[in-house]
Amino acid sequence: MARQNQKKIEQIKGDESMKLFPCVFGLNNSSGNSTKRSKPKIIYLLLFSLISSCFVFAPHLFYFPYPSALCLIDESILCDRAGYRSDICFMKGDIRTHSPSSSIFLYTSNDLTANHVLQEQQIKPYTRKWETSIMETIPELKLVTKDVKLLGGKRSCHVIHEVPAVLFSTGGYTGNLYHEFNDGLIPLYITSKRFNKKVVFVIAEYHKWWEMKYADVLSQLSDYPPVDFTKDKRTHCFKEAIVGLKIHGELTVDPSQMQDDRVTINEFRNLLDRAYRPRINRLEEHRFHSKAAKRGMAKRPKLALFSRTGSRAITNEDLMVKLAQRIGFQVEVLRPDRTTELAKIYRVLNSSNVMVGVHGAAMTHFLFMKPGSIFVQIIPLGTDWASETYYGEPAKKLGLDYIGYKIHPRESSLYDKYNKNDPVLRDPNSITQKGWQFTKEVYLTNQQVRLDLRRFKKILIDAYAKSIS
Ligand SMILES: *[C@@H]1O[C@H](CO)[C@@H](O)[C@H](O)[C@H]1NC(C)=O
Repeated sequence: MARQNQKKIEQIKGDESMKLFPCVFGLNNSSGNSTKRSKPKIIYLLLFSLISSCFVFAPHLFYFPYPSALCLIDESILCDRAGYRSDICFMKGDIRTHSPSSSIFLYTSNDLTANHVLQEQQIKPYTRKWETSIMETIPELKLVTKDVKLLGGKRSCHVIHEVPAVLFSTGGYTGNLYHEFNDGLIPLYITSKRFNKKVVFVIAEYHKWWEMKYADVLSQLSDYPPVDFTKDKRTHCFKEAIVGLKIHGELTVDPSQMQDDRVTINEFRNLLDRAYRPRINRLEEHRFHSKAAKRGMAKRPKLALFSRTGSRAITNEDLMVKLAQRIGFQVEVLRPDRTTELAKIYRVLNSSNVMVGVHGAAMTHFLFMKPGSIFVQIIPLGTDWASETYYGEPAKKLGLDYIGYKIHPRESSLYDKYNKNDPVLRDPNSITQKGWQFTKEVYLTNQQVRLDLRRFKKILIDAYAKSIS
């Protein structure tokens, strides 16, 4: 799963970068703070005189909110490189893609050399900037300002788009569910929300399977078919483009960084609900006849269990399922693989009261649970930090009732392998501190869980009581 260095990610501070571009994210449009809005006009006048020459060289001057009109500077490329997790560039003007040279050109009639504003920016449109090893695999894009005279009417547009482009990569860790949501879909939502589906996604390192897997979700984000940047050699012309994605944190949306500060992770979940509804409705039609048979079960609270085989499997899973059934749950065991339709998983979780699973990428599915429902994450030895950071905390932000079940050393398969005074059992922190490689080898790829059912029973009874109240 997430292969980043734990210490590094802990350093991630509040993201300052969006303050640099308040207009682009429309912060000053949000309601409320009137003191900010009534900044002396003199500042704007000053800004006016500075902006044409300064913004390229000293964007840090513009920390305070200013009117959106000023921000929409035509024929410009602005790159915000202050974010810890991603870079993002904004282009406005006569924009033309040129995929053979991995470039996007911006044609301008400004006298480039005189103003020294001839720009060439490089960007890797992926949201794990701090993880150098994976960023090395992401191809770089060039954003280049060119003199419009160079065009000479020769390179005309093959496709003219009336709506803006958002360009991003589906390379990197795409293929892992956590990363697909965390690095891709949620940042894509954050970045493209303001366009209200009037946006074209231009995808670097495009994968057909990715487009198919997320077709439902993509249809809620854009009204237009995506462009495969590498394979589609045509010149696509836009008037506005965003290259790279904005990201707020682990599996979350920070409303204070959104144009509309009522937009939370719950809004993203609502979007998923709209995305999967048509497909689920079709599935339900087929199921109509078996519904009557299920009616008897329908009143019992539902527990969805994510089952794993191999590492981090629950070795006494069958007994745990029987226990949950005896307590009164209707249990549904999910064993998703890469080909499992997400709509089907959504359907199960959206109608479940409780989700249970051992820490791992499948926990990303907590996003499919209804706010107010219960999420029990079983935390193997040595995975406390990752469990809480990637899933526990984000789940709480979604409004789930989150329970982290930290296993005791006796509940770990490592108990049989190591002496009971070994730091691996006694002091996992001392091992995980040595770095991700150690954590992975010792705790993630070689550990199974044997639940102490007397202990786990308390969690289930508690969850049951909450579910029927
Ligand atoms: C999810 O559950 C809610 C509440 O039970 C329901 O209103 C909604 O239609 C469900 N969503 C889908 C896509 O079935």
